[in-house]
Parts: sequence; C-alpha cells; structure tokens
Amino acid sequence: MKRTKINLLLKLETTPGEVLVKGWVRTKRDSKKFSFMEINDGSCLKNIQVIANDDLENYPDIQTITTGTSVSVTGKLSASPGKGQKWEIQADQIEIINIAPESYPLQKKRHTDEFLRTIAHLRPRTNKYGAAFRLRSEMAFAIHKFYREKGFRYLTTPLITGSDCEGAGEMFRVTSLDPKMIEQQGKMDFKTDFFGRESSLTVSGQLSAEMFALALGDVYTFGPTFRAENSNTSRHAAEFWMLEPEMAFCDLKQNMDNAEELVKTLVRHAMDECPEDMALFSNFVDKSLPKRMDILLNTEFARVSYTQAIDILKHSKKTFDFKVDYGTDLQSEHERYLAEQYFKKPVFLTDYPKQIKPFYMRMNEDGKTVAAVDLLVPRIGELIGGSQREERLEVLEKRMKEMGLPMENYWWYLDSRKFGSVPHSGFGMGFERFLMMLTGISNIRDVIPFPRTPGSIDF
Ligand code: 4AD
Ligand code: MG
Repeated sequence: MKRTKINLLLKLETTPGEVLVKGWVRTKRDSKKFSFMEINDGSCLKNIQVIANDDLENYPDIQTITTGTSVSVTGKLSASPGKGQKWEIQADQIEIINIAPESYPLQKKRHTDEFLRTIAHLRPRTNKYGAAFRLRSEMAFAIHKFYREKGFRYLTTPLITGSDCEGAGEMFRVTSLDPKMIEQQGKMDFKTDFFGRESSLTVSGQLSAEMFALALGDVYTFGPTFRAENSNTSRHAAEFWMLEPEMAFCDLKQNMDNAEELVKTLVRHAMDECPEDMALFSNFVDKSLPKRMDILLNTEFARVSYTQAIDILKHSKKTFDFKVDYGTDLQSEHERYLAEQYFKKPVFLTDYPKQIKPFYMRMNEDGKTVAAVDLLVPRIGELIGGSQREERLEVLEKRMKEMGLPMENYWWYLDSRKFGSVPHSGFGMGFERFLMMLTGISNIRDVIPFPRTPGSIDF
C-alpha cells in the first residue's frame, strides 16, 4: 500500500478506507484496552490520532512506544468523535521502526529557544521549528515563482570569488594551500591562496548579476552569501541567504516598486498557502503579527530620503544610544524607530551620502549622494539594501580611484560600462530577515536550519 502524508490525509472529504501513515509519535496515552497516539510526519503542523486496541498481536510492544518513536501504521481512516480533528486512524497494524529512549530531549513540554539551539539537529521536530522551516521552504519557492512570472531568469553566481562587492573587508578567505605547508613556512601568503590567486567567499552575487542583467535583461540570484563580521547580534549571521534581483533599463523608483511588490506578494503567499503555520506564529510567538501583516499588505510603503530621515531622527524626542548626524550610518535603533514609531510601516530611505555606500552606486546630480535605497521594516530594521548602479564609465572609474580600489581586478566589470552600458538597478533582500519579519521570530539563529554565527559550527 502507498503511504499517505498527513497533510493530504487531513484534506480528504471522504474516507478511502484503509490508509498507510508513517511518522513519529508525539504523545501517547494508554488505557487498559486502548493506546492513543498522536503521530506527526512533518508534512504539516497537525498530528493524526491513531487508536490501537488490545487485540493487535504486538499490543504489549505498542505499550512501550515512547515520544519520538518512529512508526508505520496501517488502519481505517474514520471520522473522529474528538474535537478539533476530522479524522483518526483505527490501527490494524503498527510497526515500530525505532524506539526513542527516555533520553530523547524533546519530551512533551515547553523548551526555550536557547536550549533548542543547542540541539539544532533535533529542533525541526518541534511544532514551532517545523512551522518555521516549512515556511522557509515555501518562501524560497514563492521567490522563484514571483520572478518567474515576471519573466526574470534565475542565475546562479559563484560562491568563491576574487572581488569584494561591498568593499567592507568582511570576506572569509578561501585557501587551496596545504595547512602543513603553511605551518612549515610559518606564514600564510594570502596573495596565493586560491591556486596562486587571492580568493574569498562571496558577500554578494550582485556584480555577477549585473553582467547577466546586461545580457538577459531581468535576472535574479538567490543563494548563500558570507560575511566575516564577528558581530553577535540577533540579525547578523556569517552565512545567510540573499535574494538579489538585477534589472536592466531600470531606475531607482522602479527598483523600489519591484521590492515593494515582492514583499507584499511573499506575505500574501504565506498567508494563503501556509495558514496553519502562520497561525502558530501569531498565536504563540508574536501577537502583533496579524496587525503587522495587514499593514504590510494594505498600506503603501513610505519613501523618504536619507537626509529627511536624519532630520526626523534629530528632531525626535527619543534618546538613542548612538547619536545621528548627516553622514553617519544608521544603527538598528534608528532604523526601527523610523519604521516602528515614526512611519509605523515599512519605509524606503533613498539617496545616502556617498561616503557610507559602496563604489557601484550611481552618483546623484548633487555630487554628494548616491542613488541608494534601504528598506526598513518594523521589528527588523534593514530588510533590503539596493541601488541604481553607476552605468557611466568615466564616473565609475573616478569613484573607484577615489576609493582606492584595485582597478585591474574589476576589468571585467568595467567592460560592461564600455560595451552597451544601460541604466540598471537591483537590490538584495536578506532571506532570514524576511523570515524573521514574517514569523515574529526575533533571533536570526532560529530561522536558519544550522546557523553559522560566532561559536556555532558543530552541526
Ligand atoms: O545591504 P547589503 O550589504 O547589500 C548588498 O550586499 C548588495 N550587494 C545587494 C544588492 O544590491 N544586490 O545586504 C543586503 C541585505 C541586507 O539588507 C540584509 O537584509 C541582508 O542582506 N544582510 C544580512 N543578513 C543576515 N546576516 C548578515 N550578516 C547580513 N548582512 C546583510
Ligand atoms: Mg545594507
């Protein structure tokens, strides 16, 4: 007989009679004549109740089943008299696949997020993390769907690279050198680490995506990126996933329009396709979620310049830990104040001073600011960072020289400005930050299956 997953089983209108279900026992109650088990197979939040009665030949074994035990159940699907569940299974046969002994850490009780992080290999078996990672999967699919329907091409960009896109010096080095040789020499020559060349893990796929936008039109890359920032915050990880669309013939306004439509579409998709998992988060993780989702979906995001934002911050009554002034980069407290308390909705900040932004952003008429955009959202702060790119060769070269960039490493990038350069724009959205916004989960470590943050590298 073919196995049915519980999410499909629970959707059935009429019983097919006999079914086969495989999964893990969440809870079990015994009476003299019956055992009641809640079984979950990870396909959805809900369990299916299985009733085993004492005429089953292995009933004594069934009574030894513990939380976490894996089982295979065949039985009749029948209407459940119990509240809140439509179906239950009257077992004809229960095969115990593997017993989970008493030492199984996920006994039925509440566990803290901190504790669950120490068993990241087991936590997807809990309701909350099961829901979080099902949503993560669904949102990755929704990203592809959104861009595919818009006619974008999906581009995979290299993870090992010789160029620093953001110029922030936060690259992890990659080496092909034998550690023994390095030890013998007593030093490591970074200039030769990748078969004779410098190399690192990428901080962004943007520069490659620009090359493809100037060939295929609209593209996006979606994959892992790495930052060697040793910051122990709740919204930074050393390895995170970034979505980066890049659009030819596109200015900063169209760039923001795309970002806003993306965020709204993804939120709508989560609410339509994953209502149960979303309900778990609004019931148990963040009671303000429904209101925030409503704002995300039904209000236009605010759009102001960096200069206006600084003005707002300087005139606000709130005292910040970090002082702001024109030319300073915003801290998360400033970002959150703007989105949560001032605008009370997501806000795009545009046109930042050139000193605090990377080389590739398009210089504005004023010669002081660049066509940058950040999207700040309640609870998170910066969700998206992007810009219109500098498409004018001479302006770009001047800027790169000013910043002391090794021009020879960027010859290929400059080529794109020599041969049929066009205005183009793009942005990067941190996938984990999006998931934090969507679920109300407040630590980035809890939306990544196996987080890479300082100190966590075991699993
Ligand atoms: O603002 P960032 O650094 O922009 C770029 O890398 C551009 N090259 C993107 C582009 O225009 N194609 O990063 C983009 C987003 C941030 O807004 C944030 O959401 C996320 O990536 N991000 C991080 N997420 C988790 N941990 C970190 N250490 C992150 N650093 C950035
Ligand atoms: Mg940024």
